Amino acid sequence: MVDTAAVQQRVEELRKLVNYHNYRYYVLDSPEISDAEYDALMRELRQIEEEHPQLVTPDSPTQRVGARPLEEFGTVTHPLPMLSLGNVFDREELLAWLKRISNLLSGQRFDFVAELKMDGLAIALVYEDGLLSVGATRGDGYQGEDVTQNLRTIRSIPLRVSGRCPRRFEVRGEVFMTKAGLEKLNRDRSEQGMPLFANPRNAAAGSVRQLDPRVTASRPLDIYCYAIGWAEDGAAVPDRQWEALSWLKALGFKVNPYNTHLDGIEEVESYYQSWVERRHTLPYECDGVVVKVNSFAAQQELGVVGREPRWAVAYKFPATQAITRLVDIGINVGRTGSLNPFAILEPVNIAGATIKMATLHNEDDIRRKDIRVGDWVVVQRAGEVIPQVVGPVVSRRTGQEREFTVPKVCPVCQGPVVRPEGEVMSRCINAQCPAQLYELLKHFVSRGAMDIEGVGESVVQDMLEAGLVKDVAGIYYLTREQLLSLPLMGEKRVSNILEAIEASKQRPLVRVISALGIRHVGWETAELLARHFHSIDALARASREELTEVPTIGPKIADSIYDFFQQESNLGVIDKLRQAAVHLEEAAREARALPLAGQEFVVTGRLATMSRSQAEARIKELGGAAGSTVTRKTSYLVVGEDPGSKLDRARSLGTKQLTEEEFLRLLEEAARRGQ
Ligand code: IVH
Repeated sequence: MVDTAAVQQRVEELRKLVNYHNYRYYVLDSPEISDAEYDALMRELRQIEEEHPQLVTPDSPTQRVGARPLEEFGTVTHPLPMLSLGNVFDREELLAWLKRISNLLSGQRFDFVAELKMDGLAIALVYEDGLLSVGATRGDGYQGEDVTQNLRTIRSIPLRVSGRCPRRFEVRGEVFMTKAGLEKLNRDRSEQGMPLFANPRNAAAGSVRQLDPRVTASRPLDIYCYAIGWAEDGAAVPDRQWEALSWLKALGFKVNPYNTHLDGIEEVESYYQSWVERRHTLPYECDGVVVKVNSFAAQQELGVVGREPRWAVAYKFPATQAITRLVDIGINVGRTGSLNPFAILEPVNIAGATIKMATLHNEDDIRRKDIRVGDWVVVQRAGEVIPQVVGPVVSRRTGQEREFTVPKVCPVCQGPVVRPEGEVMSRCINAQCPAQLYELLKHFVSRGAMDIEGVGESVVQDMLEAGLVKDVAGIYYLTREQLLSLPLMGEKRVSNILEAIEASKQRPLVRVISALGIRHVGWETAELLARHFHSIDALARASREELTEVPTIGPKIADSIYDFFQQESNLGVIDKLRQAAVHLEEAAREARALPLAGQEFVVTGRLATMSRSQAEARIKELGGAAGSTVTRKTSYLVVGEDPGSKLDRARSLGTKQLTEEEFLRLLEEAARRGQ
């Protein structure tokens, strides 16, 4: 006989536990148990429910993705329309809004709530007796689509609220996707040859409006709630927006932690300004600040015009998109021979900068987005990154546009172009291609590599045009006469350049390795290689296996290094460097003497006494390596506050863990030994 009461009790206990940890993880972003422990609870619950189907309830955490695909969505009428917002774009317009409402609220004092305006999809969630009963899109504001079964799959939406609440009420919020979530989704879609989502808003809307809830469940969706739409028992809910946000939080809804309560419009202005600068640091897109009059009574008094309330306004961030004409698609040949298409645009102003060029990533992306030369295109600029072409405005096509094809031969050297299996880029495979040499030489002489002062872009170009150098080592064979023959060269300048070239022969090994321009070998990897091999010759002789023994170097980087040194022409360059007396090895003693040599550290979570990059810098100073993922080669995982999944991985691999205190002690001891 099964003790049904005991089973029932265990089911309830498990649901409570799962809900609690779900809330810690998805709403508070602060898990208390590992993924594995969480999975074990879920597994137990699922198993009991399978054995006792009569115990399954709709709010059980196992029932988030339960429903079958729909034929079509039902319609939901919003008892109170879901409004939109008027926009203001600058301080003057904000003050004009303030003036209008001040006149209407003559004499009354009022305060504000400022919220980040999430760029996603507005939805309404109806709760009955504490349970999520209906979830709907905004639609036209009056009627939306019934997407309940999809919204149930979003784990930051509670299926049951925690605490006392009106019998029926509605919560409104914005469903969104993080930038990283969208990137990953698009990467996967690109691999499967599916069209990409242009922005997080489209991605969120496309994901919520899926007939099959399993598709929605597979998308990285999240929500921030920002309003109580309506409540059956009005007396039980707060009468101010700021309190409403706390009320929502207390019931288990996810509320944006950056929302704030502000006294006056100057504070609103500085809140806005601070986000204009910082918004790119957020993990999600937001397109402005929503300013709301705090008191619901005052909101009522101000009322609504058309579909826009007078009591709130969206203070939009400067636009980061504009529409302009794609005049042509140019090709840049990169240091590794990759043919990088770029957009040549009719100049357009975006957020204060004139944009004439933008990246187009690669030919697949151009094809997927169906971008054609002559198209009107949406161009986007975000923060410091290179502007990008989002997509074409198809409705403006005239039929004169032409499709883009990758040239069959290199536009610079007319050498053969190939597209290696599994790669998204076509490449010029002529190692003597001047375009490659130009990029490579620029890199070789740059401050981060051999640091040859006085040899900038234009000198590099002149040298190549005059045919004075055929590879990077050629720079060490330049004569005074040759340099004097270049444009704008005088005795003094040439002397300085020759001195700088001579001085660069003494650069440490790490610079030489980094200067060679081996694919996937940046400064950090070069440092590891120099420390491990102590000479170019040892590095050139290393097998793939020996290379992967170096902390943090995986098979992809190892292959690239190995392949580089298999090429005759590259070995020739090394020889020429040696003949020219460029330093190609380093006293091994020095590197070995470093106390943390050969040990790899990974840091997870926040450290109280230093930032992650400071910690990594300390590790490296002492000869250790700092990795970003826990692998079998990781010597220690340093565990800070709120550790992430790296901790689970370290546990499963049995990696040694250090608390911050232990880590500091280890650093101190190492530093003492190293002195
Ligand atoms: S309040 C009258 N608050 O912006 C109230 N909306 O343009 C209207 N949105 O449809 C909504 N974040 O999709 C409000 N913190 C926030 C918001 C927000 C994003 C969206 C929402 C709405 C649109 C209005």
